[in-house]
Amino acid sequence: MRITFGAFPAAPVGTVAVGLWRGRRPTAPVAAVDLDGGLRRRLKRLDFDGDEGETELFLAPAAPLESLVVFGLGKRRKLDSPRLRRIGGALLDELDESRAVKATVLLDLDPAQVAELAYGLQLKSYRPLRKYRTKFDPDDEDDVLPVLDEVVIACAEPEAAAARYAAREAVAQGVFLARDLTDEPGNVLGPEEFSDRARLLETLGVEVTVLDDAAIAAAGLNLLAAVGMGSGRPPRLVLLRWRGATGRPLVLVGKGITFDSGGISIKFDDEDMDAMKGDMAGAAAVIGAMRAIAGRKAKAHVCGVLALAENMPSGRAQRPGDVVRSFSGQTVEVIDTDAEGRLVLADTLAWAATTLKPGAMVDIATLTGAVEEVLGDPYAGLYANDDGLARRLLKHAKAEAEPLWRLPLTESCDEDVKSDIADLRNCAWGEVPDNDDAARFLGRFIPEGLPWAHIDMAGKEWADEDDPLCPETATGFGVRLFDALAGG
Ligand code: BES
Ligand code: MN
Ligand code: ZN
Repeated sequence: MRITFGAFPAAPVGTVAVGLWRGRRPTAPVAAVDLDGGLRRRLKRLDFDGDEGETELFLAPAAPLESLVVFGLGKRRKLDSPRLRRIGGALLDELDESRAVKATVLLDLDPAQVAELAYGLQLKSYRPLRKYRTKFDPDDEDDVLPVLDEVVIACAEPEAAAARYAAREAVAQGVFLARDLTDEPGNVLGPEEFSDRARLLETLGVEVTVLDDAAIAAAGLNLLAAVGMGSGRPPRLVLLRWRGATGRPLVLVGKGITFDSGGISIKFDDEDMDAMKGDMAGAAAVIGAMRAIAGRKAKAHVCGVLALAENMPSGRAQRPGDVVRSFSGQTVEVIDTDAEGRLVLADTLAWAATTLKPGAMVDIATLTGAVEEVLGDPYAGLYANDDGLARRLLKHAKAEAEPLWRLPLTESCDEDVKSDIADLRNCAWGEVPDNDDAARFLGRFIPEGLPWAHIDMAGKEWADEDDPLCPETATGFGVRLFDALAGG
């Protein structure tokens, strides 16, 4: 959807949206469309108070207005960025409802506030992949009826608002890339296809390096190779680098299992296996963040590393009980081939720490079903060996509405991940929740002294219908958080 900024029109036409403060206190634009006060009387009768998220659609109110959307802004004092974005998201839904193709939003807020509301509008306007439909679906409104594709925001300083919004738009494009990739089916998006999508970021000035299966073997990334062994589509490791500043990079690592069948320890049917096409959502968050950071030309040095493999059972697949020598030199016993994420991440984290000399390193993964049970909505799990890094992540997570809850890297897990035959085993099925074991396992591949954090985002890759900034599809969780963490 295109968003542009312009001056207040002398006489609004078409589909128009105006805001109302809490207590039904009008903004200046309300006066412009409600010359006789009739609108306010109707709102009163509807008990429309002007709270955040409240919206009302009036069809054919009076020519030349085709429809009018009124949206609540809440209390004037509390109008911060997260709220402005949510208001934008709610407004988008109501504009969609109006079935206009183009709409004008009249907004007498300052340019920074205008940009935040526009950002919320844009994030919510994402349309799930439709390219696999060959015919119109008469039951699907978005197929049959016109779809909103342009919003003009009329405000006091349109140039300033547009300049502010440009950086947000770049981040939205990163979020959309992550959503698109997560939703792609496994047959279309394997490790190689994912790496081809990563190469497209070169046009933005991102340096892209791809390690194919031969290079992965030569580098000694044997855990990554082992997970990919069962698939006819070999693994890839992708390094994305944005040099917007000098100094040690922030390194972001993503789990990119393009489909997780569980391997020989195959998942049961009732585990909604089709949703495991989204087991690359961590890698999607990283590539999306790199798209955002490069798109807004951030003054930051950031590397993104994608661990890409498909976890499949076959005559060439790894077996439960296999022992593999990792990149770090430690040996790992593979107890359960379905605990594959921690294997690919262990090698990729160790490789990134050695090769990239990070200032800080953060990984993100749809790692364990257990974390969903432990935390539930809306939090993803955060583990960190460094309080400063954890604090920064928690702060940005809150501001970006991608909430994290910090969990401890408990030493009691060390016993769980100890193997009889090798240095480590990949899971325990012990007393401690598996998400804790997995995090502690990863910690064994992080060099002493390197600030590191791990985000377990299992379950956060898909939105339910009332997500304020995302329609009911893949979320792109993590892109906004990582973009904010990178700063610049
Ligand atoms: N990709 C899954 C975790 C997952 C579960 C992501 C649900 C999103 C939603 C992961 O690879 C996995 O299979 N984990 C196992 C670990 C177990 C075998 C120790 C799990 O959670 O059951
Ligand atoms: Mn698995
Ligand atoms: Zn997995």
